[in-house]
Amino acid sequence: MKVLITYDTFYGNTQKVAESVQAALIGNETELIRIDILTQDKIDNADLVILGSPTRAFNMTKKIRKAIRKYTYTGKLFWVFDTRANIKDVESKTLLKLVEHFGYAAEKMEKILLKKGAVKKADYSGYFVKDTEGPLYEDVLDLVKIDVKKLI
Ligand SMILES: Cc1cc2nc3c(=O)[nH]c(=O)nc-3n(C[C@H](O)[C@H](O)[C@H](O)COP(=O)(O)O)c2cc1C
Repeated sequence: MKVLITYDTFYGNTQKVAESVQAALIGNETELIRIDILTQDKIDNADLVILGSPTRAFNMTKKIRKAIRKYTYTGKLFWVFDTRANIKDVESKTLLKLVEHFGYAAEKMEKILLKKGAVKKADYSGYFVKDTEGPLYEDVLDLVKIDVKKLI
C-alpha cells in the first residue's frame, strides 16, 4: 500500500507522531512530507493519505485547513490525527469549558474530508502533549502503533 503522511508542526510534536506513524507502517511504501510541499499529484498517487495537525485554538492549523480545502480527495482513503493539550492539565475552568465545547483539530479535519468525498479508513486519533511545546505523553508512541494497525 502506498501511504502519504503529511503534517504541520510548530514545536515538532506532530512531526514526531508522523514519524512514528511512518515507522509503524513498515513494509508499505510510505512518503512523509510537511504540509507545505503537498501537491495534488502526491495525493493522487497514494492509496491512503494521512494528515496530522497540532490543535490550535480548538482547530487545525491554517496550512492544514488550506490543504484540505484546496485539493481533491474524492474517493481517497484517509486517516487524520492531531496533537493536543490534555484537558486534565488545563487549570482554567473557562478554558476547560471552551475545550469541551469546541473540541480539537482531528474531528474537524475528518468532517471536512468526508464532506469532500474522501473515505475514512479509521476513526481520527488525538495524542496528548504535556505542555504547549511538548514533550508528548510517554504512551503516545505505543498508542500510535495500536492505531496504525487499524490502517493495514
Ligand atoms: C496558540 C496555541 C493555541 C493552542 N490551542 C490549543 C487548543 O485549542 N486545544 C488544545 O488541546 N491544545 C492547544 N494548544 C496546544 C497545542 O495543541 C500543542 O502546542 C501542539 O499539539 C504541539 O504540537 P507541535 O509541536 O506539532 O506544534 C495550543 C497551543 C498554542 C501555542
